[in-house]
Amino acid sequence: MSVNGDDNRLPKVEQVPLIIDAEFTENETINNSSDNFNEVKTQQTNRPLDLPFSTPTPDGRARIVTVINQKGGVGKTTTVINISSQLALRGHRVLVVDADSQGNCATGLGVDKSKVKHTTRDLILSPETAVSARHATAVDGLHMIVGDRSLVGLEQEMLRQLGRERRLAEALEPLLPHYDIVIIDTPPSLGLVTINALVASDGVLIPVQTEYFALEGLAMLAGTIREVRNLLNPRLGVDGVLLTMHANTLLNNQVASEILEHLPEFVIQPAIRRNIKLAEAPSHGVPIHLHDPNSNGGQDYQGVSNSLEQRWGLI
Ligand SMILES: Nc1ncnc2c1ncn2[C@@H]1O[C@H](COP(=O)(O)OP(=O)(O)OP(=O)(O)O)[C@@H](O)[C@H]1O
Ligand SMILES: [Mg+2]
Repeated sequence: MSVNGDDNRLPKVEQVPLIIDAEFTENETINNSSDNFNEVKTQQTNRPLDLPFSTPTPDGRARIVTVINQKGGVGKTTTVINISSQLALRGHRVLVVDADSQGNCATGLGVDKSKVKHTTRDLILSPETAVSARHATAVDGLHMIVGDRSLVGLEQEMLRQLGRERRLAEALEPLLPHYDIVIIDTPPSLGLVTINALVASDGVLIPVQTEYFALEGLAMLAGTIREVRNLLNPRLGVDGVLLTMHANTLLNNQVASEILEHLPEFVIQPAIRRNIKLAEAPSHGVPIHLHDPNSNGGQDYQGVSNSLEQRWGLI
């Protein structure tokens, strides 16, 4: 094929008719005095940290809550493991869905991943596996659907599917009347699997490590939540912001006060203190209340579970 235009298969640029759009011609008159112009200027834009409130759970079915923060290592999985087991210990029927390919919830709840047949990937791709994908854990009344490496690549597979953002919501539907609360753990990214979790959810719980950049991360997440709410799930709101790995340092305290100042009605008390027992417990395959309930970490997750039990209308 010739480079200098002998080949006529592609139209020459100058032969392509120009698109003349009245809106963009020089003759356009700008009407500074009209009300419309004013409207644009004064139109409300969302402030970066505007978070929508969540609403109560509809009667007769489980509340679905996604634990989310696109920042890695902030305590999402630790929060899922320990809040879900605290609530099950109090007699609530709880289902954990691990939507993270790291699959750490299984380890922390004493489930042997090598023996699991159906995982969260199967749940999303073949909703009919929902009932058989649930597994018992180290805690009575707490069931889980295991996440594992098979979730890697799922996003690519889903791209070809219709209704790809709602697959998880639809798959969970038949399970909801059998539980009081469903808690979804998410990976540190805002990909399609995480969006599926948000579309399925009534509320989100946001663990935030009280470190520098926490507020920037929160602002980014707030944008995603607003977008999902506007486009895909108008029910979605924020159930709470949980301060994690908190130590009594100047920086941790400064960041905690800043978050409290910006989001007073969302912060859940108490803050979770940095505590080695919380990091040790998964290596024993148990949550903190079976490892060391009286540790700082054990007490803090009990306190937070008290607050959430009320917020979630479980008592
Ligand atoms: N309050 C705490 N005190 C001490 N260590 C903690 C605390 N919370 C979590 N950890 C430890 O910090 C590490 C990260 O926690 P975790 O895995 O819960 O974070 P994550 O947000 O789920 O991470 P990822 O984004 O990779 O999924 C883990 O080793 C965990 O045991
Ligand atoms: Mg995690």
